[in-house]
Amino acid sequence: MKLKDNFLWGGAVAAHQVEGAWNEDGKGDSIADHLIAGSKNKKRYITPVISRDKIYPSHFGIDLYHLYKKDIKLFDDLGLKCFRTSIAWTRIYPNGDDNEPNETGLKFYDNLFDELNKSGIEPIVTLSHFEMPYNLVKKYGGWKNRKLIDFFVKFAETVFNRYKSKVKYWMTFNEINNQSDFQSKLALYSNSGITECPLKDSEKTMYQAAHYELVASARTVIIGHKINPNFKIGCMLAMAPIYPSTSNPKDIFKAERANQARYWFGDIQCLGMYPVWLKTYQKRSNWNLDITVSDLNILKKGTVDFVGLSYYMSMTVKVGDDEDQYYTFYEEKDKVKNKYLKESEWGWQIDPVGLRFSLNWLNDRYHKPLFIVENGLGAKDKVSDNNEIHDQYRINYLKSHISEMEKAIIYDGIDIIGYTPWGIIDLISAGTGEMSKRYGLIYVDQNNKGYGTGKRLLKDSYYWYQNLIKNNGINLEN
Ligand code: BG6
Repeated sequence: MKLKDNFLWGGAVAAHQVEGAWNEDGKGDSIADHLIAGSKNKKRYITPVISRDKIYPSHFGIDLYHLYKKDIKLFDDLGLKCFRTSIAWTRIYPNGDDNEPNETGLKFYDNLFDELNKSGIEPIVTLSHFEMPYNLVKKYGGWKNRKLIDFFVKFAETVFNRYKSKVKYWMTFNEINNQSDFQSKLALYSNSGITECPLKDSEKTMYQAAHYELVASARTVIIGHKINPNFKIGCMLAMAPIYPSTSNPKDIFKAERANQARYWFGDIQCLGMYPVWLKTYQKRSNWNLDITVSDLNILKKGTVDFVGLSYYMSMTVKVGDDEDQYYTFYEEKDKVKNKYLKESEWGWQIDPVGLRFSLNWLNDRYHKPLFIVENGLGAKDKVSDNNEIHDQYRINYLKSHISEMEKAIIYDGIDIIGYTPWGIIDLISAGTGEMSKRYGLIYVDQNNKGYGTGKRLLKDSYYWYQNLIKNNGINLEN
C-alpha cells in the first residue's frame, strides 16, 4: 500500500511572496509590488504610485533572492524531491512590453534552477503567479486588452527556451479561476491586473479578461511542446468544492451551478472548449465578448498535460430567496457555514475529506494526472525560549489531508504526480499581506512590517514531513 517511488513530495512558494529584491537588478514593478499590507479584517488595496510611508510586503518577501542557496540546503536536508516556485515576469520583461529580456533576471533563475537540480530537487514552475508587470496595467488596462496575449506568450517562449533543459514541469496561470469571484477587487486585480471596473461591469470584464488568459495559456502550451516535447505543462486551479447546504433540489442545483461557474476555466484548459451552459449564458447576457473562431481553435489545440490544483477548503452554498433563472453564483453572498466543519483562524473551512472528493471529481471530469501544488494551514506560531516551534496543529492539518490524498491514490486509483505543501517556508500571505499568517515548515524570524533577523528555524512539522518523505507517505495500512 505504498505510493509510487517517483512520487514528487515537495514544497511550494511564489516569487512575489518570497524573493523580495523588488527593484533590484533591473526588475520592474509588478502588480504585487503595488499592494499594501492588510490583515484578516483589513482588505489589501493598491496604490498606483509607491508611497514611502506604506508597507508593501512583496518588496521584502523573505529575501529568498539573496538567501536561496541556504534555503535550498534546508529543502535538501528535508528530503524534498521537488520545489514549486514562479518566475517573476518583471525580472525577465520589466515592463512587459520590452523588446529584449533582462539578462540579469534570466541569470537569477538559471542559478536558482541549477542549485535545485544540483540537489536533486525538481523545479516546478508557474509562469504567472499574481505578478504581471504593473506597466501592462497602466498602459493597456491589464488582461482586458487582447495585446496582453502576445506579451505573455513572448515571456513564456523566452523562459521555455532558456530553461528547457532545467525545468520539465510548468503551469501557466496560478489559480486562474479565483476571478470567478468577480465582485472581489483583489481577485480581479491579482488574476487579471484590472484596477478600475464598476461593479456592474465586473462579470463581463472578468469573462473577457479570462478568455484572453485562456487563449494565452493554450498558445503557451502549444509553443512549449514544440520547444521541448518532454515538457509537462499544466493548468492551475484553486480547488474548493462547493457543497449544497441541504438536500433541497434548489440548493443542489445552486451548488452545481456554483461549481460550473468556478471550474469552467478547467473545462477549457483540459477539454479545449467552452461548456454549453456558459456559451448560452454569455450569449443571453448580450455582452458581445471578443471571442473569435481562431481563438476557439487555439483553445482546442492547447490543452494541458496535467491539472495542478491548490486545496485549502470547501465551500457550502444556499439558494437565495430571490434566485434568478441562471442561479448566478456570487461567492460572498451565497456562501454559508458548514456545521460539520471547523474553520482556521482566518475563516477557511477545514475539510480533508473534501480533498479526496475533489481529486475524484477532477479525475472524472478531466481524465488527466493531478498534481496537488498547494495545501496547508495558515496559523500563528510561537517560538519557545529554546527556539523550538511546536506546530502540532499544522502537522494535524497536513497529515489529515495527505491521508485523504493517499486514499484517492490507493483506494480510488487516481494518478497523482506529487504533493507540495504551501509555504514550505514562511512567506507573505497573498490574501492579507501578513507574515503572521504562517504556512511554513521552516520558520522565518520576521514580522508583518518586514523587521526581524530573517533567521530560519525548523518547526516540528519540518521533522515530521522529513520522516514522511523518507517513508514515502503515511502508508495507510501501518
Ligand atoms: C493561494 C495562492 O491562493 O493560496 C497563494 O496561490 C497564497 O499565493 C495561498 O499564498 C494561501 O493564501 P493566503 O491568502 O493565506 O496567502
